[in-house]
Amino acid sequence: MKLLVIGAGNMGLTYSEGMSKSPLLGKHKLKIYDTDPKKITTLSKDPLFDVYDNLEACLPKADLVFIAVKPYHSEALFKNMKTHLNNQQLFVSLMAGVTIGTIQEQLGAKKVVRAMPNLPAKVGKGVTSYTESEEVSKVELIIVRNLLDTTGTSIHVTTEKFIDASTGISGSGPAYVFYFMQSMLDAALKMGFSDYDSKVLVSNTFEGAIELFNQSDISPEMWISRVASKGGTTQAAIDSMDDNNVKQLIQDAAYAAFDRAVELGKE
Ligand SMILES: NC(=O)c1ccc[n+]([C@@H]2O[C@H](COP(=O)([O-])OP(=O)(O)OC[C@H]3O[C@@H](n4cnc5c(N)ncnc54)[C@H](OP(=O)(O)O)[C@@H]3O)[C@@H](O)[C@H]2O)c1
Repeated sequence: MKLLVIGAGNMGLTYSEGMSKSPLLGKHKLKIYDTDPKKITTLSKDPLFDVYDNLEACLPKADLVFIAVKPYHSEALFKNMKTHLNNQQLFVSLMAGVTIGTIQEQLGAKKVVRAMPNLPAKVGKGVTSYTESEEVSKVELIIVRNLLDTTGTSIHVTTEKFIDASTGISGSGPAYVFYFMQSMLDAALKMGFSDYDSKVLVSNTFEGAIELFNQSDISPEMWISRVASKGGTTQAAIDSMDDNNVKQLIQDAAYAAFDRAVELGKE
């Protein structure tokens, strides 16, 4: 299979690195196209990739094309791509907020998968949600899933509403976790711990809690009730969060990201 990634930025490169080792590529090297001459020069030295600075040389023969440019670059890109397409090609867009309908209309393509990745893909722990236009076959969808899973795991969703919704949960979600981590780091520093000790305390607390959660069928709420005894220290912290409506505020934040994803799709 001939695979082309358009846009060698954060996401494009992360997926390229993951997918370059996929057996689906057979003897073909993964192709990357970007407009930035510096990136072309650097990536050309990487034996994993064939790197291109013009679409004519790489797009017509590609079977599957991943699109990983910023959404505001998509319209100009689609104009340039249009004359180099064939109607068997399958497109996978990683762009936030750009709908399948828009891609089909502006690119003139039928087979489109829309995917929402997240940042931990960089360390092979990403989670991607994806959905497809009706022209994409079941076999093609399995191929796409295999490729997405090279950066972590994925979930298939039935409509684009869930792509926007997963933007609010997993797409933007790593930032919510970092926000919580930063707040705990700031508290540890205020209490007098060194930078190093604060980091050890906070990162191991997160890692340990996630491990407990993953290794059992117990909900986070149940874990809280196991840790917090009446009148104890943990209960004091949970009461403080409940008094300040923290749970509701986090849900509001996730909905703010969801709403913004929907808005971006309309712009
Ligand atoms: N980063 C995340 O955590 C995240 C999460 C979910 C979804 N996404 C989506 O992933 C997509 C890529 O994001 P990113 O953070 O990887 O962006 P990025 O780092 O800016 O990478 C985009 C790359 O595409 C290049 N480019 C721009 N116009 C191009 C064109 N016409 N043809 C070919 N290449 C072009 C850019 O070059 P220049 O630098 O010269 O412009 C850059 O190298 C976005 O649509 C975003 O919505 C990202």
